[in-house]
Amino acid sequence: MSETKVEIEKVVPGGWGLARDGDGVVLVPRVVSGERVTIRRFEKYRGTRRAADFVVDEASPDRVAPDCAVHPACGGCGLLDFAPARQREAKVEMILDGLARTAKLEDLSVVEPMRFAAGDEARRRRCRLTVDGAGRVGFLGAASHDVVEHETCPALTETLNAAVGRVKAALSARVALKIRLAHDDQGHVSAALEGREAQGAARDLVAAGAVHGAVVEDDGEIVARFGDPALAGEVAPGAAGGPFGSDAATFTQASRFAGRAIAEEVLRHLSLAGFGGGPVIELFAGAGHLTFPLATVSEQVLAIEGNARAALHLRDNADRAGLEDQVRTVWGHIDGETFPNKYAELIEVLPEALVLDPPRTGTSRFDILLDTLQPDIVVLVSCDIATGARDIRLALDRGYELCRVTPIDAFARTPHVEWVASLMLPYADEDEDEDATDGDPP
Ligand SMILES: C[S@@+](CC[C@H](N)C(=O)[O-])C[C@H]1O[C@@H](n2cnc3c(N)ncnc32)[C@H](O)[C@@H]1O
Repeated sequence: MSETKVEIEKVVPGGWGLARDGDGVVLVPRVVSGERVTIRRFEKYRGTRRAADFVVDEASPDRVAPDCAVHPACGGCGLLDFAPARQREAKVEMILDGLARTAKLEDLSVVEPMRFAAGDEARRRRCRLTVDGAGRVGFLGAASHDVVEHETCPALTETLNAAVGRVKAALSARVALKIRLAHDDQGHVSAALEGREAQGAARDLVAAGAVHGAVVEDDGEIVARFGDPALAGEVAPGAAGGPFGSDAATFTQASRFAGRAIAEEVLRHLSLAGFGGGPVIELFAGAGHLTFPLATVSEQVLAIEGNARAALHLRDNADRAGLEDQVRTVWGHIDGETFPNKYAELIEVLPEALVLDPPRTGTSRFDILLDTLQPDIVVLVSCDIATGARDIRLALDRGYELCRVTPIDAFARTPHVEWVASLMLPYADEDEDEDATDGDPP
């Protein structure tokens, strides 16, 4: 068996260590830059070569014993072999790599230090459990569909770990299930189960007191509801008009820290870009996590969200806060291609700022959106390096300048990254003024 010795050059998006040998690039899992490894077996995955079997010959001094008994079998946290500070360094490396390669940025000094937190603030308040036909309850394994069971998960809040324990104890039937769990500051636990056939299990979970309420979703529609699944304050915590409502079937930010930091950064980026309080269009609004903070600085917010459940919470949240005149909420699919026709009537004036928080797949045809809306300022919240960097490039190609990028460690322990980036159109009249001092008569 031939072995190849390589040194890891850098960590690239997805959390892979990139190295080169005589045959080109090879990606190595769970390593950081500077480490030396011997690769014993390679595998091909979608055109890339990966190390399928390797040993670390020279380890980083930042290697630590993982604080989780089921790592690395569990697919939840990929960076546990390294101290938290080195995990964050690796993520910043990934962001810089994505911005240099995909956004083709030359000046990476626009990237600010990563914001992070420790303790309960950084732990997850929501999770997705898989139950398999053999009655195992846990998270999916790394790159597999096997369920990995755990006693308690160090990534979750105590409240969520306790709820997972109760759910395990309450589920008796051996049926395959997908269960999302989430809780709020009052310790109220909400569940969302997928598929009509999950109704019996949802009823059992509520009857056993494992959760306070549950909804059953089928094809994106709520088909049953048991107990009280409403959560209070997970959306825009602390913003005027709250607490705002949601449930486990609705997207909300995973940790209290991530929720707070993203909302704070969106407002800070707007302020530093000279936002003057004009109209904002917010796309991918969810239940209003950014909408209500935005309403504190903008005269008019138009918030669009594609998920029916989230859009319902968004509208109810705006109504209950008495913001129905200032915050216009719309349930609708967002795609740059169809946007100009679909939403033309809603857009009475062009927005001063466009704020977007798309899913990992990014914003389809962001270029058309920019051409249509022509915002002075764009604030992009991104949870995917490739699509985020692609959209930054599209904006740069349209004359926008990148003001700053703030990485946020929203998914501690994992290679997932989040950033807030702001772009603005350069002030046209500044150039004209400069010309005027260049010899033109006053
Ligand atoms: C990353 S979440 C952000 C939500 C919200 N800003 C927050 O922080 O809670 C993305 C949101 O986009 C919605 N979404 C995904 N694809 C969409 C599309 N093509 N059109 C409209 N909404 C979409 C999802 O339902 C989800 O609520």
